[in-house]
Amino acid sequence: MSKLKTMTLEWTGESVIFIDQRKLPTQEIYVECETYEDVYVAIKDMIVRGAPAIGASAAFGYVLGAQKFNGAFDSAEGLAYMEKVKEKLASSRPTAVNLFWALDRMHRTFESFRNEPDVVKLLEEEALKIAYEDIEVNRAIGKHGAEVLRDGDTVLTHCNAGALATVDYGTALGVIRAAVEQGKKIKVFADETRPYLQGARLTAWELMKDGIDVTLISDNMAGWVMKKGWINAVVVGADRIAANGDVANKIGTYSVAILAQKHGIPFYVAAPLSTIDLNTPTGDEIPIEERSHREITHVQGVQIAPDNIKCYNPAFDVTPSHLITGIITEKGIVRPPYDVELKKLFE
Ligand code: MRU
Repeated sequence: MSKLKTMTLEWTGESVIFIDQRKLPTQEIYVECETYEDVYVAIKDMIVRGAPAIGASAAFGYVLGAQKFNGAFDSAEGLAYMEKVKEKLASSRPTAVNLFWALDRMHRTFESFRNEPDVVKLLEEEALKIAYEDIEVNRAIGKHGAEVLRDGDTVLTHCNAGALATVDYGTALGVIRAAVEQGKKIKVFADETRPYLQGARLTAWELMKDGIDVTLISDNMAGWVMKKGWINAVVVGADRIAANGDVANKIGTYSVAILAQKHGIPFYVAAPLSTIDLNTPTGDEIPIEERSHREITHVQGVQIAPDNIKCYNPAFDVTPSHLITGIITEKGIVRPPYDVELKKLFE
């Protein structure tokens, strides 16, 4: 187990290769990262994106950082160097807690073994463990989540919480995949997910590749398809879940949750334990990334708004826990009261 290759990423032993998610679905281009700085750029520029995927990517970035160091890891200099690597990777994106979770896990491994001659090998093993665990965890999320979907259901999803957002299989799309694997006929409505279009570009591509029935809608159509009675459940992913069950996920998720409540449709969040942040008490304390205004004023390089227009471009929003029917994790489905039930997952 020293190599790994999935749709999202490949670990070669001395580099990480990503499918460039900015270019999908029209081009399948691969980007090879040989240094931790390259991985930092890949996460920041969203060559790789999605909470579990950026966690695993940062872990491999941390290994690349260690591989390039020539000094003694058990010296003050060695410790300072690895702290610098960790901080750089941690500064790539602020919202998804999986990034910090994975880097903390790597850094703890480093601190425990920095006196050992094979510390770099041990770090590589830890990064691969994080990646392989993510695949298993997603399969477990899928198995639990499939229970809430009935044969013939239509699910609405937002953004991309699929194989591309994880090491493989996906969280929200993992739930759909598992239900389909059980023989249920499931249809999907995918929100296009303005402004970055993860739904149109990535979810639509991924589900079509798997032969899953998917219909693309623009974000402002979600209420209407619910009103028509076409949606039986909403399943989305998460970037960070606060201790009280508030969920940060892709901008637009909050609106979908309100619409689901209004139409009496169950709203599920599918996420691993590594997305749950008990140190963040409520959604109000979750840092929300703001991205370039160009993502709003331009679509695929074409300007669609006046020069110098004022913009606001938060990449995520927070759905309050009272709008959430259940949080589907690898340990089962958590239901309210979330402040009590989420804690139990870690006991
Ligand atoms: O900005 P992105 O594309 O990284 O945002 C991704 C999401 O919001 C996903 O829904 C979330 O990370 C869950 S991925 C399993």
